[in-house]
Amino acid sequence: MSKKLKAYLTIIYLACFSVLVILSINYSYKIDFFDITFLLIVTFVMNNYSIFFNYITEIKTSMTLPVLLSAFYFVNPLWAGIIAAVGTITFKEEIKYFVWYKFLFNRAVFFLASSAGALIFNLTTPVLDSNSFPIMSTLFASIIYFIVNNFLVYVVINLADNDVNQMSLLSYFRELSKNLITSYFLGLVLLASYMYFSKVLFVLVIILLFIIKDFFYSRLQQMNSYTQIIESFLKVIDSKDHYTEGHCERVANYTYHLCNEMNLSRAKSEKIISIAKIHDIGKIYVDDDILRSSDKLSEQEYKEIKRHTEYGYQLLKDIDLINDELDIILYHHERWDGRGYPEGLKGEKIPVGARILTACDSLDVMITGRTYKPPMTKEEIIAEFKKCSGGQFDPEIARKMIQLIKDGYFDDKFKSEEKIRELELSLEY
Ligand SMILES: [Fe+2]
Ligand SMILES: [Fe+2]
Repeated sequence: MSKKLKAYLTIIYLACFSVLVILSINYSYKIDFFDITFLLIVTFVMNNYSIFFNYITEIKTSMTLPVLLSAFYFVNPLWAGIIAAVGTITFKEEIKYFVWYKFLFNRAVFFLASSAGALIFNLTTPVLDSNSFPIMSTLFASIIYFIVNNFLVYVVINLADNDVNQMSLLSYFRELSKNLITSYFLGLVLLASYMYFSKVLFVLVIILLFIIKDFFYSRLQQMNSYTQIIESFLKVIDSKDHYTEGHCERVANYTYHLCNEMNLSRAKSEKIISIAKIHDIGKIYVDDDILRSSDKLSEQEYKEIKRHTEYGYQLLKDIDLINDELDIILYHHERWDGRGYPEGLKGEKIPVGARILTACDSLDVMITGRTYKPPMTKEEIIAEFKKCSGGQFDPEIARKMIQLIKDGYFDDKFKSEEKIRELELSLEY
């Protein structure tokens, strides 16, 4: 341990001790045993049995502050500090891997932060919330608690020579401040239930929060497995069809931009983009020789390639997670004028996701070219979208696509004139 760190820890211990003595002199006679015990037990249980939102934000936000807001209201600063210091002892980390100076430091930090928060609460309540629910004073108290707690921890992290954790004070606070807002509002809900109803409701609200946490967590796990499925499919497609390697990924990227322009709900856009990533999955059932053939395809072979839309749909239709927008895969080669496949759907009968995908799919073919045709220039692509608007493409989508191209969204993707000429020459021989 460095000298600086030792000195810092000593200062914190002394500060904690001094504050404890000063507060004991001023407040020890005011004891509401029942409230103190209740809040202490709740804080302790919360800290040892769940860390709220931990999985979602990946930052440890415990329920300590929300519970402490009630302590600021119901008990004096001395006891608010003690509740925080004792209630935050965790069996899993601190008792099992006991290191005395870390243990003491944590107690001191919680004590100082909580008693500072409670003092600010007591000072501001008569001024800001004299006859009303203490919205403002709890806000100030939360901010003070947050600053004291995180600043003391920030210093110790930086003194501990831990490279991984070196970040500027500002970005450290910015990262954590999202949790402050959540904690503050949760704290208000808890305080209101404690003040106006009872301890029973207070506990019920906490249980409800746990249920919500579980809900979010299982949603998050579901999302993760969904992404994993998509990614493994993507690898399968790329390994199967080297010529179009990266095609699906690029199409998904174009889809992202086009969806943004289309004013779709975020959930819908996300689904369309995910499906775009695997839209050609059905090609894994198409014979390799046909896929890789650089000769002109026979009618039979072409028919087989076209079936990749149905193959893809059949393959995925039993997976619940993906099912929602699956017809995008089935219809991504339909045309606005009804001359597409597999069903020859026309106009708005084609799902909007599929219409978006058609435009993005074609854009990638135009940009990268195929064995039988060279890539097109930016101007040629714009002209092509104009020409095919109302034919292959939904006119509105074509218009938006042209705008995106003109606005330079895909400029890094287009090949230069020279490169295209080179490719053209190589195709002729
Ligand atoms: Fe396709
Ligand atoms: Fe495609």
